[in-house]
Amino acid sequence: MAVNMLDHLKARNRAWAGRMVSEDEDFFRRLESRQVPEYLWIGCSDSRVLPNEIISLAPGELFVHRNVANLAPPQDANYRSVLQYAVDELKVKHILVVGHYGCGGVAAAAEGKTAGAIDHWLHPVREVKEQHQAELDDIQNKSDRLDRLCELNVVSQVRNVASDVFVREAWKNGQVLNIHGWVYSLSTGLVNDLDVTVSGIEDFARLG
Ligand code: CO
Repeated sequence: MAVNMLDHLKARNRAWAGRMVSEDEDFFRRLESRQVPEYLWIGCSDSRVLPNEIISLAPGELFVHRNVANLAPPQDANYRSVLQYAVDELKVKHILVVGHYGCGGVAAAAEGKTAGAIDHWLHPVREVKEQHQAELDDIQNKSDRLDRLCELNVVSQVRNVASDVFVREAWKNGQVLNIHGWVYSLSTGLVNDLDVTVSGIEDFARLG
């Protein structure tokens, strides 16, 4: 019985694979042998924020890590394994930390309404909120206030990535590695570059 489930998705998969091959005969053969992505994307799991699609990159061009509220917690083995592989093995040149306005994870953390595993996971967002409480309190409109917290959260995650020992080692060895902070707008489809790019230890001060 279960075999017939999700047939519509399997049909879509067959159509997609066929389309790729009809456009480029060697497409899968080429990708099978290696991946050489120049970018690592660290973003939110939100179904509306599609990494490859937003920046129009093909399979093989973007290494991706996603979790709720696009966090880069130094103690998270999943994120750090992705980071190390991207930096040490793939030698990506850019790491994009991409939040999005209207993030449900950020909102849940801000409103303190969560419970269970997600509550623990979102702890870093609450810390960011507390660090910037005065600035946030000055913003009257509730959704503007949450959007600002989405931005501050991204800056905080950029700081985490830039502080990581794998990243520090790469810079020390002369590897080119830029860490960017972006926030994607669900209403326009455009990304907002927060201009907090860190390209070496000397740039760290930019993060405030
Ligand atoms: Co989100």
